[in-house]
Amino acid sequence: MKIAFAAPKMPASGTVAVFVLDGAELGPTAQTLDKLTAGALSRAMIAGRFKGKRGETLEVLAPGGLDFDRVMLLGIGKASALDDLAAQAIGSSLMARAASAGEAATVMVDTVDGAAMERAVIAAHVAYGALLRAYRFDKYHTKKTEDEKPTLKKLTVALEGEAAARKLFAPLEKIADGVFMTRDLVSEPANIIYPETLAKEAKGLEKLGIEVEVLGEAQMRKLGMGALLGVGQGSARESQLVVMQWKGGKAKDAPVAFVGKGVTFDTGGISLKPAGGMEEMKWDMGGAGTVVGLMKALAGRKAKVNAIGIVGLVENMPSGTAQRPGDVVTSMSGQTIEVINTDAEGRLVLADALWYCQDRFKPQVMIDLATLTGAIIVALGHEFAGLFSNNDELSEKLAAAGKATGEGVWRLPMGEAYDKMINCDVADMQNVGSDRAGGSITAAQFLQRFVNEVPWAHLDIAGTAWSKKERPTVPRGGTGWGVRLLDRLVADNYEGK
Ligand code: BES
Ligand code: MN
Ligand code: ZN
Repeated sequence: MKIAFAAPKMPASGTVAVFVLDGAELGPTAQTLDKLTAGALSRAMIAGRFKGKRGETLEVLAPGGLDFDRVMLLGIGKASALDDLAAQAIGSSLMARAASAGEAATVMVDTVDGAAMERAVIAAHVAYGALLRAYRFDKYHTKKTEDEKPTLKKLTVALEGEAAARKLFAPLEKIADGVFMTRDLVSEPANIIYPETLAKEAKGLEKLGIEVEVLGEAQMRKLGMGALLGVGQGSARESQLVVMQWKGGKAKDAPVAFVGKGVTFDTGGISLKPAGGMEEMKWDMGGAGTVVGLMKALAGRKAKVNAIGIVGLVENMPSGTAQRPGDVVTSMSGQTIEVINTDAEGRLVLADALWYCQDRFKPQVMIDLATLTGAIIVALGHEFAGLFSNNDELSEKLAAAGKATGEGVWRLPMGEAYDKMINCDVADMQNVGSDRAGGSITAAQFLQRFVNEVPWAHLDIAGTAWSKKERPTVPRGGTGWGVRLLDRLVADNYEGK
């Protein structure tokens, strides 16, 4: 799907979308079309009970007095409520309708009286919302007829001063590229995306100027990564650690680091999961997928920051070589862990990835993402990711970026009492608490033992990496959650001018 910006000019065919404010108040372009059609738009609004609420659409087909094929009334809601996210939602509802309504559509972006946003900013975010909505993961459907496929090839965003909008849209389009890469990686099944193939996808980012190193099992063994390697030892697939570096900042600036859990399939291992729903565990590499997509976004828009992305890639399988409950592993940090439950594997992978990251790169902040616990879904559902941190300032920055992007985070407590729950008679710690109480928190406490006091935040994205319901700018399946959040975190706080 191609998005272009152009000066306002009515096309000879296709769909033309025009703004209508809350209260069925036609915008300037809509008023012009209403006159040319002898009031057909006003009548259609009454007949269709269309109120102009944000996200509402109404189509008028083959309107008399106009050349093109359809007018789409696009509700934009109250002018005073218009912001980036609202504009994106408007673009998204436009795309939802236009995708299967012919090959070409034009949206006429008027100046909105009473809105705090300039026309070019509105246009860029309408385009961004439309683009995010146009994403599809349908490569495995081989039997769809032409009628069942989307028809739209080109969306033109038309406004006075289109050059400014085009410029604002350029970095947003790069962020969308990152979001799409994450969605693709997360939605791919585990026979296609496994440690080596995911590492290969990351390797592909070299063409954007990212340095990518891939460590195999022999190298990780030398580094002493016994926690990560233990998880992968039951799998026929070789475990991998991928290190990505984007050097867009000054050489002396300490990097911002992102670390992702990449369990390409989580059977639970010997502590086997039940069969029902186990197919969902193909997306247990969601944290890694987000880190890879984020690096793509940052490099794509040439962010002025030094960023590190590290993903620990393993497949958690039961087999004759799999680790057993009760095994004791030694992590790269030197700390020993009794593996009580082989299904609490993500924290074992992250233990070595986090330690390696801070040890090698001395980052100014380190943020990990992981589909770590089912318990975070019990606590927060699918609306917020869980945030755990040893640093208030970083937590506030993340919360602000969450509000700005619609990818919200909610902080949960940590502390000594929770930390004690993973103490162990046999080793320095065990990989689960003694019962299910505070399951997401004890998981975070475990991770904290491997961050060496670096300002750190952990995002438990088990509830947000994958969606069964459609949202304005997010499809079903892999959501790409976190790319927009962390890109914004970087843009607002860590980019040199
Ligand atoms: N990948 C799962 C977490 C998960 C569960 C994500 C359900 C999404 C949906 C993780 O590796 C896991 O199995 N966690 C266990 C931890 C338990 C054994 C302490 C869990 O949450 O049940
Ligand atoms: Mn597990
Ligand atoms: Zn897992």
